[in-house]
Amino acid sequence: MKRIVSGIKPTGSLTLGNYIGAIKQFVKLQKARENDEFFLFIADLHAITTRQIPHELRKRTLDIAAMYLACGLDKERTTLFIQSEIPQHAELGYILQSNVYMGELERMTQYKDKLESNDVSISSSLFTYPALMAADIILYDADYVPVGDDQKQHLELTRDIANRFNHYYSDFFTVPEPLIPEVGARIMDLQNPEKKMSKSENNPKGYITLFDDEKTITRKIKSAKTDSLGIIKYDPLEQKGLANLINIFASISDISINQIVDKYKNSDYKTFKEDLAKTLVDVLIPIQLKYQEIINSNELNEILDKGRSIASDYAFKKMRKCKRKIGLGRK
Ligand code: TYM
Repeated sequence: MKRIVSGIKPTGSLTLGNYIGAIKQFVKLQKARENDEFFLFIADLHAITTRQIPHELRKRTLDIAAMYLACGLDKERTTLFIQSEIPQHAELGYILQSNVYMGELERMTQYKDKLESNDVSISSSLFTYPALMAADIILYDADYVPVGDDQKQHLELTRDIANRFNHYYSDFFTVPEPLIPEVGARIMDLQNPEKKMSKSENNPKGYITLFDDEKTITRKIKSAKTDSLGIIKYDPLEQKGLANLINIFASISDISINQIVDKYKNSDYKTFKEDLAKTLVDVLIPIQLKYQEIINSNELNEILDKGRSIASDYAFKKMRKCKRKIGLGRK
């Protein structure tokens, strides 16, 4: 039995990028790996590395929990929990800060991007964020961590931190492997295909959220930036916008990029976009209906209570051993 661990940060609305790069993979893996355990959480401690409005943060935290289930995760096989409800994440995060170097944190692109944005109010927790993320993962001895491409660097650092700890104190943490999907690991902004589709992206035409209605989805796909070549082929260098749409189409409908290209090679952008929009609507609207059911039920709280109890048990035992190993406390 392997343990699979991953999380989503409740900042902004969930996007199609989060769905394709992460949640859809979780669901697929869960179907394919019947004997494995899934620990999935909402990374609310990560969200507060930038300023959040408290009631919005709480709402988005529950929204993500409900969305995980609405997207098809099996509640019986998922330990679903909220990061801040398990204090050992922060405790281990602090310990791991002592096992990671400033230089390593300074090399993280997420931090570098923030520095370049000339934002003067970068919190110190934004800088140490990768230590907390490493804690989220190794606290549960994760074997695999399914994530989108943008988290690859954090996963590499997590492995380095785990190896360093194991080397100094003797084997203790499982060194996790990232699982990054072959197609859809980096969904790009619909208006600027040079940039990752992101919930903090300012132009709403650039991203589709999991809450967008049929009209909005169709409008955003129709206005997605393509090119003037007018030929449907997969060329991520010359036809970035179109390649992104092909990626979305292939991921969402579980068919290969080649099959998509083959189907539309004699067609035009308009028809291709109409079909893509329809496919997206057919996938997202049922998820939204399911979300409505779950968010308005009492069951969500019960599932989160159960998740907290299982995760907390594991985390408590692991941290007790960890502190003993390091020499913290009396015994
Ligand atoms: P976050 O909340 O930014 O994103 C959640 C997941 O969605 C993926 N993702 C994308 N995939 C493809 N295309 C995109 N445009 C796109 N945008 C986002 C991300 O790669 C991620 O898998 N630090 C993490 C949250 C986290 C975490 C963890 C993840 C905290 N602790 C431990 C795994 C394990 C983050 O900010 O992801």
